[in-house]
Amino acid sequence: MTSRKLRSQAWFGGDDKDAFIHRSWMKNMGLPDDTFDGRPVIGICNTFSEFTPCNAHFRGLAEHVKRGILDAGGVPLEFPVFSCGESNLRPTAMLFRNLASMDVEESIRGNPMDGVVLMAGCDKTTPSLLMGAASCDLPTILISGGPMLNGRFKGRTIGSGTDVWRFSEDVRAGRMSRADFMAAEAGMSRSAGHCMTMGTASTMASMAEALGVTLPGNASWPAVDANRARLARMTGRRIVEMVQEDLRLSQVLTPAAFRNAIRVNAGIGGSTNAVLHLLAIAGRVGVPLSLEDWDAVGRGIPTLLDLMPSGRFLMEDFCYAGGLPALMAELKEVLETEVVTVSGRRLADILAEAENYNPEVIRPKDQPLCAEGGMAVLRGNLVPGGAILKPSAATPSLMVHRGRAVVFSSIEDLKARIDDPDLEVDETSVLVLQNCGPKGYPGIAEVGNMPLPRKLLERGIRDMVRISDARMSGTAFGTVVLHAAPEASVGGPIALVRTGDWISLDVPARRLELEISAEELEARRAAWQPPVELEKGGYEGLYVKTVMQATTGADLDFLVGCRGHAVPRESH
Ligand code: FES
Repeated sequence: MTSRKLRSQAWFGGDDKDAFIHRSWMKNMGLPDDTFDGRPVIGICNTFSEFTPCNAHFRGLAEHVKRGILDAGGVPLEFPVFSCGESNLRPTAMLFRNLASMDVEESIRGNPMDGVVLMAGCDKTTPSLLMGAASCDLPTILISGGPMLNGRFKGRTIGSGTDVWRFSEDVRAGRMSRADFMAAEAGMSRSAGHCMTMGTASTMASMAEALGVTLPGNASWPAVDANRARLARMTGRRIVEMVQEDLRLSQVLTPAAFRNAIRVNAGIGGSTNAVLHLLAIAGRVGVPLSLEDWDAVGRGIPTLLDLMPSGRFLMEDFCYAGGLPALMAELKEVLETEVVTVSGRRLADILAEAENYNPEVIRPKDQPLCAEGGMAVLRGNLVPGGAILKPSAATPSLMVHRGRAVVFSSIEDLKARIDDPDLEVDETSVLVLQNCGPKGYPGIAEVGNMPLPRKLLERGIRDMVRISDARMSGTAFGTVVLHAAPEASVGGPIALVRTGDWISLDVPARRLELEISAEELEARRAAWQPPVELEKGGYEGLYVKTVMQATTGADLDFLVGCRGHAVPRESH
C-alpha cells in the first residue's frame, strides 16, 4: 500500500454520494469492499480485436497481466481501445494511429486509474498507445503481444511481409506459380502474434524496449512461448510497484532514451516507420527530437542483427540468440546506459546480465551485417523538408545514382501503367510516386516500395531508385526514398517533377536534387493546381486539416504535448 494519496481515491475514497456511485456500480462486477481501500488501480489498455489478428490473443495475455497486478496487491481493470490492425484496416492503419492515441489519452485521463499497462502488438498499436499515454504521463509500462513463430513453406523458412513482396514479384516475373503463391499463405502465419520479420511491429516492440518502457526481453519472446505469459505476469507486478514509486512515463522517456532507441534501430536494421513514430511520441512527452537527430545519432552504428528484411533470420531466432538485451550489450559502448527503465534498474545493470548465444544472428561489432545501419536523412531542392532512406535495405550500387524520372500521380495511376509494355522505363530510371503523403492519401500510404515494371523484372532487375511522399512497410526493402516533404498534395517539389526530368541521388552526401533551374521550378510551382478534392467530413476531415508532415511525426498538430493526468471534475 502506498502512503501517497492515489488518483483513484478521487473516485473511490470517502463516503459521499459520488463515492457511492463510483463504488456501487463497480461492485456489479463482484468486487469486494476492500478493493477500494487505497490499493493502486491499474488500467489494462487492451488493443484486442479479431480484425487485428496480430493482437487477437490479447484476452488471454491480459489474464496474466491481471494475475500479476493481483499478486502485487493492485486492482486490475481492463479497457478496450481502438485497435489499428495493419493487415485489414483501409485506407491505411496509419490514418487511424492518431485517432487511437486520442482514445487512449482520454480513456486514461477520464477514468479512475493510478497506473497503466499498455498491450500492443501490430504496427500502429505500439505508437498509438505510447503517444496517448505520454500525453497523460501516469506510471506506464508496455507489454508486446510477441511475434509469430517462424513461417515455413515447402521446407524453408519464410518471413511475414518480406516473402509476400518477394513471392509477388516472383509470380509477376513467372518464377512462381499462382498455386504455390496461394499455398504459402498458411505457412507464413503459423501462430498467434505479430509479423516476425524486423518489420514495423518487431521494430516498435524493440523501440519500446530500447526506450525503457518494457521489461527486458519484451521484444522477442514469441507470442505463444510461456515466457511471454510470464513476462505479462511480471509486467502486472511491476506496474503496481511503479505506482508506489510514482515512476512516470516522462521519467523514462528522456532525451537519452530516445537517442538509445535511434542507435538500437540502426543496430537491428529497424523499420523506417520508427522514424515518424518516435518523432510523434517525443512530441507528446515534450522531448525535442528532429529528423536530423535520426541521421546524426544513428550515423556510424552498424546493423548487427541478421534478420529479414535486411538479413536471413526471424524474431524467433533473435529470441533464442538472447533477444534485444544481447544486441544492446553488443552496442553498449555507444549507448547511454545510466538511463533508468520501467524495471527500476539502470540499463547498464540489465545489459551486464545479457549474453549472445548465437553470433550468426546477433553479429559481433567487427562482423556487422551492414556497416551503416542508421537512417539517411536527405535534403535538396526535391525535398526541402527532408526525406529518409534506409541504407541497409538499399542496393549499394544505387546509393549514388542519376536517372530520368518516370512519374505516377497516384497509386491507381501506378497500378494502371507499371506493367504497360510501352512504358518508357529502364533500370536507370527513377520511379516517382506523388500524392501518397499524410494529407494526400490521406494517412501516408505504405506503398513507397512500389513494384518494379514487369518487363524489367523479367530481365532480372531487382531494384531501382524509387521516390515518394509515402511510407514503406518495415518488411520491405529497396533503394527507396520515403516521406518526401513537403508532400505533393500541398505543392511540395515532388508534385512538380515531370517524366523525363533528371534526378540525382547522393546518399553519402545526403542530397536529392531535381536537375532543373530555380526559375523553372518556380514557374512550375506557380502553375501548380492542388488536386481537386471534395471537402472531407468526419475524422478524415479533421485529419487532413491538422496532420503534420511525416518528417515531423505526422501527428495532428493539436495533439502535440503532454496534457497531464489531473483528475477531471465530477458531473453527477
Ligand atoms: Fe500486424 Fe504485421 S500485420 S504486425
